[in-house]
Amino acid sequence: MLERIAELDAALATARGGGGEKYVKRHHSRGKLLPRERIELLLDRDSPFLEIAPVAGFQTDFPVGGSVVAGIGVVEGVECVIMANDPTVRGGAVNPVSLKKTQRVGEIALTNRLPMINLVESGGADLPTQADIFIPGGRVFRDLTRLSAAGIPTVSVVFGNATAGGAYVPGMSDYTIMIKDQAKVFLAGPPLVKMATGEVTDDESLGGASMHASTSGLADFLAVDERDGLRLARQCVRRLNWTKQGPAARNPFPEPPKYDPEELLGIPGADLKVPFDPREVLARVLDGSDFDEFKPGYGTALVTGFGELHGYPVGVIANARGVLFSEEAQKATQFIQLANAADTPLLFLQNTTGYMVGSEYEQRGIIKHGALMINAVSNSKVPHLTLNMGASYGAGNYGMCGRAYDPRFLFAWPNAKSAVMGPAQLAGVLSIVARQATEARGQEYDEESDAAMRMMVEQQIESQSGSLFLSGKLYDDGVIDPRDTRTVLGMCLSAIHSGTVKGAANYGVFRM
Ligand code: COA
Repeated sequence: MLERIAELDAALATARGGGGEKYVKRHHSRGKLLPRERIELLLDRDSPFLEIAPVAGFQTDFPVGGSVVAGIGVVEGVECVIMANDPTVRGGAVNPVSLKKTQRVGEIALTNRLPMINLVESGGADLPTQADIFIPGGRVFRDLTRLSAAGIPTVSVVFGNATAGGAYVPGMSDYTIMIKDQAKVFLAGPPLVKMATGEVTDDESLGGASMHASTSGLADFLAVDERDGLRLARQCVRRLNWTKQGPAARNPFPEPPKYDPEELLGIPGADLKVPFDPREVLARVLDGSDFDEFKPGYGTALVTGFGELHGYPVGVIANARGVLFSEEAQKATQFIQLANAADTPLLFLQNTTGYMVGSEYEQRGIIKHGALMINAVSNSKVPHLTLNMGASYGAGNYGMCGRAYDPRFLFAWPNAKSAVMGPAQLAGVLSIVARQATEARGQEYDEESDAAMRMMVEQQIESQSGSLFLSGKLYDDGVIDPRDTRTVLGMCLSAIHSGTVKGAANYGVFRM
């Protein structure tokens, strides 16, 4: 686990390095702050910041981090979603990874009812990849105004370039602050204006902060410098008169777990096939290590029960022995309904190889029972949190609220893996299919090339199922050190309670 954490730390260090030393130095020499410095000054002093998708873009053609820094932090006592362009990464231009991350962060603001603060400085669309972002990218502006329509305030502070589509970020925000002599907000810069209409003009008359604050009216506040801009953003949030809708933590001074979270490092083994007891994890995550287990003697490959985390009630559904059988699926279905009846958020702890296969299980109705569980997860209305602690394979990923099932937040431990099936199984299936096809054609199967194919496929699936690879593709909200699990989940639960927490009144038709 420590080796995996070192890999995570290296990826995080790359993200924190932004566009690299040369561009960071140049940015500082212009008297400007880096995105993380801006965020730090915006947040309440010494308050934590839960970064979302920090290694987005890992192992892709784009820089790690996606040229934006994003997360949840506290401003004037209000939990907000904060998004900051990183102008040291290709001028802060928006590439396909930046777009995906921006959209995910907007979704977090909307579903959890969190005010949104944009710290803008971007060269607009990444021109070489514009074909992949121009058309879908329009959603970002639509979503900003939909936040406003949903009663979720939006604030933007413009530190530099906000050209073309980028101009609609301040344009669509409830409050807009621009930094004097730095902000440049225009639909087209001087060269394009000259090309389009022949007019010869300059940056300041086209889109300078002073012009927008006094003439166009696009800026609500003119800041004298970056720090002043961040002060004004804090002032805007202070005046929102914001209150959370969800119930406050039941216990504002929760008891920490009785067992040392450091030991979480040693609970999952190096071999994912060796199951571990999720109660050992819960004992290091839940308040006072208190867990009231539901149906402990039935469907024992799945653990269900209630506890509290940082004072918030949670219903836990955790894999205990990899495979999900019919009993486990039925137990989960019942438990999800109970959590909905009690308006209690659900925490899914994944370590599953999927639903049981084989004729005995098919005849006993494993599809029907898996479908019950997937119905319950899909139509449950209480907020879901998902953590992949090890394995998340096959339809087990769906039943255990994988990304496609829209958990409010999804994190993975650095050892975790997720794929349609394990690498060896997948290579084996391909081999059997190829062998049958060859034999059906009356030809002889080449064992040597089969072995080579299996090895290649196994390696490919292995490298594509790791948590950093999946985080790079934004299939989760981040890979976390297991020792931070309680803190991360606690911050998520607190953020979730910015909105109402209400269970489902009805489900789809349950097939019995
Ligand atoms: N797409 C792709 N690459 C971009 C980019 C964009 N929109 N904007 C900047 N870059 C690249 C630059 O080519 C440069 O690459 P290099 O260092 O390898 O030469 C790097 O990002 C830094 O840009 P640079 O111009 O040196 O930085 P700056 O801080 O002086 O200026 C901008 C930043 C954004 C003001 C300036 O680059 C710019 O005007 N870009 C074009 C903006 C635009 O018209 N975008 C289209 C909107 S739809």
